[in-house]
Amino acid sequence: MLIGAKKGSPLILGVGENEYILASDAAAIVEHTTQAIYLADNEMVTVGPDGFHTKTIGNVTVGKDLQQIEFSLEQIELGSFQHHMLKEIFEQPKSLITCMGGRIDRRNHGIRLGGIASYLRDLTRTRRLIMAACGTAFHAGLVGEFLFEQLARIPAETEYASEFRYRNPIIEDRTVVIAISQSGETLDTLAAVEEAKERGARVLGVVNVVGSSIARATDAGIYLHAGPEIGVASTKAFTAQVAVLTMLAIELGRRKHISSDEADRHIEELSQIPDKISTILTQSDQIKEIAAANINKDNWLFLGRGFNYPVALEGALKLKEISYIHAEGLPAAEMKHGPIALIADGMPAVFIATAGPQYDKIMGNIAEVRARGGKIIAIATEGDQNIAQHADHLITIPDAPEFLQPMLAVVPLQLLAYHAAVLRGQDVDKPRNLAKSVTVE
Ligand code: AGP
Repeated sequence: MLIGAKKGSPLILGVGENEYILASDAAAIVEHTTQAIYLADNEMVTVGPDGFHTKTIGNVTVGKDLQQIEFSLEQIELGSFQHHMLKEIFEQPKSLITCMGGRIDRRNHGIRLGGIASYLRDLTRTRRLIMAACGTAFHAGLVGEFLFEQLARIPAETEYASEFRYRNPIIEDRTVVIAISQSGETLDTLAAVEEAKERGARVLGVVNVVGSSIARATDAGIYLHAGPEIGVASTKAFTAQVAVLTMLAIELGRRKHISSDEADRHIEELSQIPDKISTILTQSDQIKEIAAANINKDNWLFLGRGFNYPVALEGALKLKEISYIHAEGLPAAEMKHGPIALIADGMPAVFIATAGPQYDKIMGNIAEVRARGGKIIAIATEGDQNIAQHADHLITIPDAPEFLQPMLAVVPLQLLAYHAAVLRGQDVDKPRNLAKSVTVE
């Protein structure tokens, strides 16, 4: 007899032809069967010659539905790519089309988010949106802050889930908490969900893995539908999280003050993002050369403003976690409050200097760093005739409204980190000390 009991970490029972498989993730099962049972905390399954039985650990029978694993084996295989991370970076045009497909509702000048349809009125009237997440998902939440405040005029803040759960958070009425998580198993984020629920908040999820613990713990949610993400460094999940938050912000804005014409314009611009990412991906070899020219530097800075400030943080995290080069992301204006003391001769400083209301300010920050010997790697908008003379390396991305730039500006930073890690001989998909799903405190 085989007995599996779930407490904290995920546990799934794969149900095949006269075979049963216990595993923590559907990716370990899908080559044997696409039928699975997802156990909840304090549930167990006994498997014997007569089949399987699901119960509570108090031995009370529990009915569990068989669920279809929604991805296929080839989706988790490498194909022609050297690493899962590179495959997932290049999948982003397709994963975003899948993420947005069926949700863009041009006829009604809005977005259709079936998973939370019954909560949209609550959301429209919410006084405060709190996003709780970790790592890359936290950076997506920071972009979400700008999106909800600028498009929907709803006060929004993003908290590290690990901090939120212990800070005795203030949850007033009409507070909505959105948990963002690719794996749906991050223990800190799951704990933040429980904490928010106990305090009476409406809790929604933005999650990639169907049937995951966070997806099941929240009142409702929006699945990314980005497909399985195998590489430890999150890439396509980030752009899908930002796309979901963008769609939600447009829909909420539409229900408050955005006209149908303005919504149509936003939706049209959003639907062009996958093609624009495809354009950026053609620069992968050039970005590899930039990485090669700088991988011997052990400290990098990533700087951005406005919507692109969270992208700077994300670029720094990518570089750190797979190439083991130390990097710090920060709002560009913060340089003068201390970090500028770090600038040493030849120190790489990656600036997101795309077209936008703060372009001139960013150019000023570039001049400050350059004057102190820093090496400028600039991400700029196609057609910018000014920036080349101020940058040592230049990567251009297609023009887009500021609120859509994060999904574009992050792609060169993902590739920069990827190539730096490969050139330094690191294990890109399984970097040291890291796990794809952090199910521990
Ligand atoms: C991102 O590249 C890292 N692997 C890590 O920061 C990750 O984003 C974080 O652990 C959150 O994971 P989740 O989205 O599955 O909750």
